[in-house]
Amino acid sequence: MRWGAISGDLRLQSFIINLVQKIHVRTKPNAYDVMIGAGLLRRAGREVRRVLPSLDSRVFVITSPNVRRHWGEALEKSLQEARLPYEVLEMHDGEPAKRLHTVEQLADRLVDAKADRRSLLVAFGGGVVGDCAGFLAAIFMRGIPVVQIPTTVVAQVDASIGGKTGVNLRAGKNLVGAFHQPRAVLVDPDILQSLTEREFRSGLFESLKCGVIRDHSLFDFMETNPKKILARNGRTMQRVIADSIRVKADVVSADEKESGLRRILNFGHTIGHALEAATEYSHFLHGEAVALGMMAASHIARDAGLCSAETASRITSATLAYGPLPPVACEVQDVMGRLGADKKTVGGTVHFVLPQKIGKVKISGDVPSGIVHDAVESIRHHA
Ligand SMILES: NC(=O)c1ccc[n+]([C@@H]2O[C@H](COP(=O)([O-])OP(=O)(O)OC[C@H]3O[C@@H](n4cnc5c(N)ncnc54)[C@H](O)[C@@H]3O)[C@@H](O)[C@H]2O)c1
Ligand SMILES: [Zn+2]
Repeated sequence: MRWGAISGDLRLQSFIINLVQKIHVRTKPNAYDVMIGAGLLRRAGREVRRVLPSLDSRVFVITSPNVRRHWGEALEKSLQEARLPYEVLEMHDGEPAKRLHTVEQLADRLVDAKADRRSLLVAFGGGVVGDCAGFLAAIFMRGIPVVQIPTTVVAQVDASIGGKTGVNLRAGKNLVGAFHQPRAVLVDPDILQSLTEREFRSGLFESLKCGVIRDHSLFDFMETNPKKILARNGRTMQRVIADSIRVKADVVSADEKESGLRRILNFGHTIGHALEAATEYSHFLHGEAVALGMMAASHIARDAGLCSAETASRITSATLAYGPLPPVACEVQDVMGRLGADKKTVGGTVHFVLPQKIGKVKISGDVPSGIVHDAVESIRHHA
């Protein structure tokens, strides 16, 4: 067939197929692919069909009204084209919805809809939908498969990969959960077009984190191209997202249950979590708190003689390029007091992930509190 004879639609499809990147995640229970490509949502049905547990499996899409309003039609169309029997179940997103009662309600509705062991869930939303639907899949009838189709930057580069699922308790975040690896993760950067500016920027800090901990060239790229990235240029976003996922997938493949290497993903999170807690989780978006935490950790690394002043200042400048960040509206003492309470504290010692150079970090448990205090003080004057 001559090129000119190919229909516009076909040409578009082959273009889409060319741009899909695959990243393989290897974990003990199962290995799976993360597929990344602009327009991938339109062929999600085919990809879901590929990982169906049996020919007569039914598909249950878990999503939020907001995500459904923007992208539900596109997903449903692709499921219909793939001739998959499906139902859509809605839940609210946002942090307050990430609770056991949400999971229980969804489980009841699955039973009402006659879901069984052969059913497959599709988690279609941000990290809250992904964590709840992932947890539901882990425990419904002692475990059914789930495909993640993440729709926020946070969910695409972080939450959907690695199999951590769960919900919050009154006492704290993610206190109930399970490891349950997805069958596949489908990442379409086009879906990010509808995110608010603040949500979009906030998620990018997790990508910047991936650059600092393990990928020098991702960091360089983000440092040099904030304008293109913030304009959500398709190709640029595909690169940033794919590179970030590669870092997470590498780390998770090497250390599925967070005993050693996986802790490097907590760069920026020790102080980030303390900031979130000190402001009752209502002042910062998670990524914003992580951004401030990364700046503080770089300050600590510099003062502790672990990295050069130049490295610390590059990390701070690159972080600020993806701002604005909300002011740190809490006292240094408040943040210091919350540090010990972090879930990642080991044996009463606060561990920090500290940069040695761009692309390489070290975990340190013996940082003098004066240095930590100064670092927290420093981010109060970031603007
Ligand atoms: N499991 C993990 O490894 C892991 C890792 C990182 C974060 N998380 C969890 O992820 C959660 C945060 O995720 P989040 O930031 O995606 O929050 P979220 O799921 O609440 O989504 C944030 C907001 O974006 C909206 N939204 C989602 N997709 C959209 C789209 N395409 N267009 C427009 N609006 C859209 C949602 O309706 C919501 O209002 C936290 O609970 C965190 O603990 C988990
Ligand atoms: Zn995070």
